[in-house]
Formats: sequence, C-alpha cells, structure tokens
Amino acid sequence: MIRPFSYHDRTLFILDQRLLPLEEKWLPCTSAEEVARAIRTLAVRGAPAIGIAAAYGLVLAAPMGIAQVEAAARILTLARPTAVNLSWAVRRCLAAARFAGEGNLQERLREEADAIWAEEVRANESMATLGAGLFDPGRTYSILTHCNAGSLATGGMGTAVGVIRRLHEQGKLSRAYMDETRPLLQGARITAYELNADGIPCTLITDSMAGWLMKLGRIDAVIVGADRIACNLDAANKVGSYSLAVLAHAHGVPFFIVAPRSTFDPDISTGEEIPIEERSPEEVLTFQGSRSAPQVDVFNPAFDVVPHRLITALITEDGILRPG
Ligand code: MRU
Repeated sequence: MIRPFSYHDRTLFILDQRLLPLEEKWLPCTSAEEVARAIRTLAVRGAPAIGIAAAYGLVLAAPMGIAQVEAAARILTLARPTAVNLSWAVRRCLAAARFAGEGNLQERLREEADAIWAEEVRANESMATLGAGLFDPGRTYSILTHCNAGSLATGGMGTAVGVIRRLHEQGKLSRAYMDETRPLLQGARITAYELNADGIPCTLITDSMAGWLMKLGRIDAVIVGADRIACNLDAANKVGSYSLAVLAHAHGVPFFIVAPRSTFDPDISTGEEIPIEERSPEEVLTFQGSRSAPQVDVFNPAFDVVPHRLITALITEDGILRPG
C-alpha cells in the first residue's frame, strides 16, 4: 500500500500529492516550516495524514530546543484550519515535549510521532472491519465515495477507502464509484490512483453525476471520511459531502462517515462552530493549471458540514454511532 510520507535521515519525505497520478515525486522536508508549507499547499493532505506530518515537523524542530518546538507548533497548527487532527496531533506532541528534558526532546517527539502514526494505522484497520460488517454477506454493493479518504490521506489503509478495501477483500464489493471532487480532483487523481493500483473495480464520475446514479439505483451506500466532527455528530468533510448527503437522503441511500477518534472535536458543540477553510480563487478559475473561466468573483470553501440528521452512521475505531 502506498504511504504519504516516510521519515528517515532527519528528513520527512512527502509524496507530493499535487503531482499525482502523473508523477511520483518525493519532497524532502528538513524543517517544520517546510512541513507546514507542504500541508498548506496540499503536497500532503487528508485529515489524519496532516496530523502525522505535523508531528514529524515538530521532530525536525527539536534539535533547536523547546522554544523552537513551541514556535513550530504555532506555524504547523495554522497551516490548515478545518481538520482538527492537525491541532490535536500538535497539542499531543507538545504535551510530550514539555515533559521531556532538553536532552531527550528529539527522541521523545520521534516516539510520539511514530505512536500517532501507528495508532492511525490500527484505527484504520478497526474501522474497515467494523464498517464492512454493516454490509450483509451473500450479496455485493456499489459504493460511492468523495475526495480521497485512502492511504494517502491517513498513512494506513484509509477511512472510507479502508471500508471499501475490506468490502473488496470480503467479496462484498461490486464496484466503487468516486467523483472527481472539483476543484482539486482528489477523487479523480488520488482515489482513482489508489483503487486502480489495488485492482479494485472502480468507476470515475464527475461531481454532478451522483444524483442521477442514485436515481438509476446504481449506488447502495455513500461512504466518506471527515475532517472534524462536533459533539452533536455534525461532520465537516470535503466540500460536496453535504450535497451527496442530501441526495442520498432523497433517494433512500445510506450515508456513512468513517473517522478515527482524532477527528472528533470535544470543544465544539455543533457543526456551525467548525471553521471552514476558504482557498484561493485560482483553484476554481483554473483546471489543472490552465485558466478555464473569466476573471469573476469566486467562492471557494474547501469543506462543508453534513448535519447529523443526514448521517446514517459514523464508523469509528471504538464502535458505530447512529446519530438518528
Ligand atoms: O483538502 P483535503 O484534500 O485535505 O480534504 C480531505 C478530505 O476532505 C478527506 O475526505 C478527509 O480529510 C478525510 S481523510 C481520511
């Protein structure tokens, strides 16, 4: 399974997801600032993956002492606002750093970063098994997913894509559909790349085709990941998730969110409090680097919030939550 990064020789090597699937280029990061830039520019993306990358960013700051680690923590936390996994991982590493002496700061931060990654890998495994268990044996299912909630977004087998992988292993998947996920095409470029590499039967659609596919009865369930989940179980995910949830509800198709503990924000009561990142107009005015629209005003929220009443179930590593 492809990994989004590897850490060795005091360097975090990030697989530059902006270039996929055309090029597999590894970006060497030797400072927390470089890791923050890679997160901001989406060279590495996906809620759990940016949390893990930030943890290694702090390891890179450690040789300069705790004051520099604290400064790096601020820069890394600000790199992207919506996925809570980022600030969660940074806070957890900072707590570990404050208890370590200056002498073993680097070693302690490395241990914590490795532990966070290993826990996400285990969480992915548990969610995949629990999620696949929601589907009856003896028949096969067509699943629609959005954006990329796979290995490259998590460092493990994936959240939503992890469930798809497990369904395939268990002979319960007839086909995975992924939408393109405009404007940055994480579905077309990254999910298609992952599923294709694993030999999982998959079909690419444009974002606007999802409703018609449901109307034709070709989707048995929608399964997506999440970037932040409020206490009332409203869930933020890549923009377009809300539309899919409304469409699924209108067609009687179950809508599942798959997300680890690190995506739950205990400080936020409802989805209305989730900060939604707005990105550059250029992402919408262009298509893969070429201008595709005149210079008009653009609204480019990177995420939206699925209200809990539209979520059939949330699959976590600890069990299944049914908000309804
Ligand atoms: O802007 P991105 O590509 O980081 O957005 C990613 C998503 O919205 C994913 O669906 C989410 O992080 C879940 S990843 C397991």
